[in-house]
Amino acid sequence: MDFGMKNRLSHIIKPKTGKTVMLAVDHGYFQGPTTGLKDVRKTVTPLIPLADCLFITRGMLRTSVDPKSDVVLCLRVSGGPSILGELSNEDITTSMEEAIRLNASGVGMSIYVGASNEDRTISNLGRLVNEAERYGMPVLAVTAVGKEMARDARYLGLACRIAAEIGAHFVKTYYCEEFHKVVEGCPVPIVMAGGKKIPEKNALQMTANAIKEGASGVDMGRNIFQSDNPVGMIKAIKAIVHKGASVEEAFEIYSKK
Ligand code: 5RP
Repeated sequence: MDFGMKNRLSHIIKPKTGKTVMLAVDHGYFQGPTTGLKDVRKTVTPLIPLADCLFITRGMLRTSVDPKSDVVLCLRVSGGPSILGELSNEDITTSMEEAIRLNASGVGMSIYVGASNEDRTISNLGRLVNEAERYGMPVLAVTAVGKEMARDARYLGLACRIAAEIGAHFVKTYYCEEFHKVVEGCPVPIVMAGGKKIPEKNALQMTANAIKEGASGVDMGRNIFQSDNPVGMIKAIKAIVHKGASVEEAFEIYSKK
């Protein structure tokens, strides 16, 4: 890795702890105005100072984030289908030039291992990495999971390993039983997606488990912005990820209004 790549990646994964708390607010790129993200500006403004990095599309960045805010960006650069179509039918939608112009520290896209367009999404990842390497731009591969795919260590381990083999610099995947096996098979950092909203204590427990099993942090959305206390929730997640707080300590942080 050259200087630019390492330096950008260190904006996202903080060198002091080797971890990151990314806030994912990209859901609208296929779900439209989903719960908690109907007004993206309103949702993200109080959370930006607390997130290590924002995972967001260029459209929401331009319309809903103050350019003067002290924010690190990972730009969602894939898309195509909506929830009404075949989700795996994705392509790259945002150029590397645009990512650089928007001052991104990373770019992210989904791969659909086991779905009908797995081969195209994986070769899209290869093309994105080829281009990103020219500019020193880290690539996050998101292991998107089709409705019919099991969220287990075997499947997620396969998807994460493929992402790393193709050249992703870091990978986002879901938590599963025996998550450590997913981490062990993947030589680049893994960040955990939160998935559907669950009770706050369970989300904190899942985060603590993932960190214990080797995750380099989270790229979490709904379990933060759909919480009844999003600010408390991101502070609690940060305490676990960066400070090794217990679930009980973190729950107390979340509970403070
Ligand atoms: C969608 C994504 C989301 O960013 C990802 O799912 C993280 O959000 P959540 O914690 O809500 O699952 O990549 O494809």
